[in-house]
Amino acid sequence: MTSAILMSAVTHQFGKRSTPLFEGLDLDVATHESVAVMGESGSGKSTLLSLVLGLFAPTHGQVSVLGTDWAELSSRQRAAHRSAHLGVVFQFGELIDDLTPLENVLLPSVWAGTDPTDARTRGEELLERLQVRTGAQSTAVVSGGERQRIAVARALINSPQLVVADEPTGSLDERNAEVMSDLLFDLPASQGCALLVVTHSRAVAERADRVLTLSTAATEGER
Ligand SMILES: Nc1ncnc2c1ncn2[C@@H]1O[C@H](COP(=O)(O)OP(=O)(O)OP(=O)(O)O)[C@@H](O)[C@H]1O
Ligand SMILES: [Mg+2]
Repeated sequence: MTSAILMSAVTHQFGKRSTPLFEGLDLDVATHESVAVMGESGSGKSTLLSLVLGLFAPTHGQVSVLGTDWAELSSRQRAAHRSAHLGVVFQFGELIDDLTPLENVLLPSVWAGTDPTDARTRGEELLERLQVRTGAQSTAVVSGGERQRIAVARALINSPQLVVADEPTGSLDERNAEVMSDLLFDLPASQGCALLVVTHSRAVAERADRVLTLSTAATEGER
């Protein structure tokens, strides 16, 4: 069966003289699997996600998502592959302040050409499930935790086959972190969707099928 993520012999370094962040990293994530990525600040977690998203190419090795090797696609094809199959929660939310929370959530559905009425219904449901008040006229006024939850709703709006999330519970209190974890870790079973989630929280990581720990010494361990 096709893997959600297949990384083989991936080495990545920024600049010729720097130490590689990863050397010969192999990672195979199945289509219904959840994997947590842990590791101290600077160990390369966000970089790993960027490689998975095809946002940049590894120095050596291959990265395939849902059976497609990023290296074989043009930048336009990579954008289309992401839009059709991937949901992304960036570490710092990356929301547009001038839009309402719901408009932010709906943006990927506009790019994907989804029926606007269906998308709106799903967007409202997602925000409700994540307990975000949808009344705000501007995303600029919502709290840090609400921003994070809006970013997760936006990642899920197109029913992606792979969700990649960079510290999605980082600015949430315990209760909201649990609501968020419930939603994310239900995805493999409820939507047949793979999940790669960076977290500093042991409690969150323990809910994943597997934990990948990156270390700054460029050695990787898996449990
Ligand atoms: N575009 C870049 N050019 C040069 N160096 C980079 C670039 N992006 C990241 N780095 C370096 O690579 C290392 C890993 O960065 P990365 O953002 O992947 O860490 P991280 O594990 O996500 O950390 P954090 O937990 O703080 O988010 C850092 O030392 C960072 O300075
Ligand atoms: Mg990071």
